Amino acid sequence: MACPQKPSLPAHLAQEPSDLPPNTHPLPRTGQLAALLTGLRNKETSRGAFVFYADRVNRLLVEEGLNHLPVLEKCLEYNGVGFEGKICGVSIMRAGESMEAGLRECCRAVRIGKILIQRDEETALAKLFYAKLPEDIADRYCLLLDPMLATGGSAIKAIEVLIDHGVPQERIIFLNLVSCPEGLRAMYDAYPQVKIVTAWVDEALNEQKYIVPGLGDFGDRYFTSR
Ligand code: URA
Repeated sequence: MACPQKPSLPAHLAQEPSDLPPNTHPLPRTGQLAALLTGLRNKETSRGAFVFYADRVNRLLVEEGLNHLPVLEKCLEYNGVGFEGKICGVSIMRAGESMEAGLRECCRAVRIGKILIQRDEETALAKLFYAKLPEDIADRYCLLLDPMLATGGSAIKAIEVLIDHGVPQERIIFLNLVSCPEGLRAMYDAYPQVKIVTAWVDEALNEQKYIVPGLGDFGDRYFTSR
């Protein structure tokens, strides 16, 4: 008897946007992931449920991000492998801080740095306000954390900061919940060697630079009680 097929998603959810840049690695569009995103997008979702869904997706993202790290043969009493190098996380404040717990669940005692970037009111460009990074960051693989990739301005600035601190782009993996083709393209044009692991690529950006369909302001929904 043939094995039953996994249930398929409705066509509009199953279809990834076409022509994604080659450094983009979306999570597989499973029913579970689509259901978690549906919960996040629902305006009626309470803060507690939003945090629960976001943490679930974060965990999936971290697990997949770790699959992109190189391993080396490690021969003890068993011939296995171990990660090639040390890692660290860097969260883009404040929304990226929501992803730190998922990283800690997978990597005990991982070092985590923080970067605060905001729009400069005079130039309208992304500006660095604060950075606290592990002192040996140049020797580490770096998981950069930000749940929403809209124009890419903050993430590109954050990568510039990491490169200034000696981290080569090939050792940066950007973990992200919801992205859009515009942001992915901008990231690829600026730093084509940075890998992007994203849970879901949405359709586009609107005129207010919000992702469509998106989920609203992630930081407000994750951190602010209503
Ligand atoms: N940041 C958010 O929180 N939401 C968006 O849609 C875009 C940027």
